[in-house]
Amino acid sequence: MNFYVLTLFPQMLEDGMRVSVIGRALEKGLITLTAINIRDFARNKHGKVDDYPYGGGAGMVMQPGPVYDAYLHAVKLIEERRKEQNLKPLSKKPRVIYLTPQGSVFKQKMAQDFSYEEDLIFLCGHYEGIDERVLEMIVTDNISIGDYVLTGGEMPAMVLMDAISRLVPGVLNNDISAETESFTEDLLEYPQYTRPVVFMDKEVPEVLLSGHHGKVDRWRQEQSLKRTMERRPDLLEKKK
Ligand code: ADE
Repeated sequence: MNFYVLTLFPQMLEDGMRVSVIGRALEKGLITLTAINIRDFARNKHGKVDDYPYGGGAGMVMQPGPVYDAYLHAVKLIEERRKEQNLKPLSKKPRVIYLTPQGSVFKQKMAQDFSYEEDLIFLCGHYEGIDERVLEMIVTDNISIGDYVLTGGEMPAMVLMDAISRLVPGVLNNDISAETESFTEDLLEYPQYTRPVVFMDKEVPEVLLSGHHGKVDRWRQEQSLKRTMERRPDLLEKKK
């Protein structure tokens, strides 16, 4: 999986992604991350990439030119990589995900769908948004991470890349844990316990110490259902 991120703050992604599980996956080359600074494609010597909105109003709008050129650069990098790896040239344009509160709300199923792609381009906006014309030209997916407004798309892009990366084979130590976890079956995960058996008078549920796999599985299924009913009854409504 190769991620290309078009952003005004490449350092934010470098700092956020090169740690923990995703950091190790990057080191192993299971995933790659290329942050492309939109400012490098400014069409003036001051590096200015935004301007006042036509029609008036508050804030600034990112201009279409630098965003489009940054996108072309990402496509060029993808083509170069394919050539190096003796792969055929792209048969269709790569998917371009624009992070916006106006998009479809991100769900685990979308993470699964995106994880089958070889290359993904993320477009991170700032200020009041990006000129609509370039969005119409390059964006294939508008995605939101929830009904609230952030200052930019970098954190949402990291949220998506994290959720997608952990579905790439080899990124997690055990593929089973990606299968049984919360949301894969529209149920929340059961509670987990580890040593010690007694912590401040609270004991680990006895069934988990029994060594009886059938009973453990049944208990976990019950707990998943109970937890989903208590915390996210909307997920059970959806299953009906
Ligand atoms: N950019 C600003 N707010 C956002 C959100 N909630 N989801 C995705 N991108 C955003």
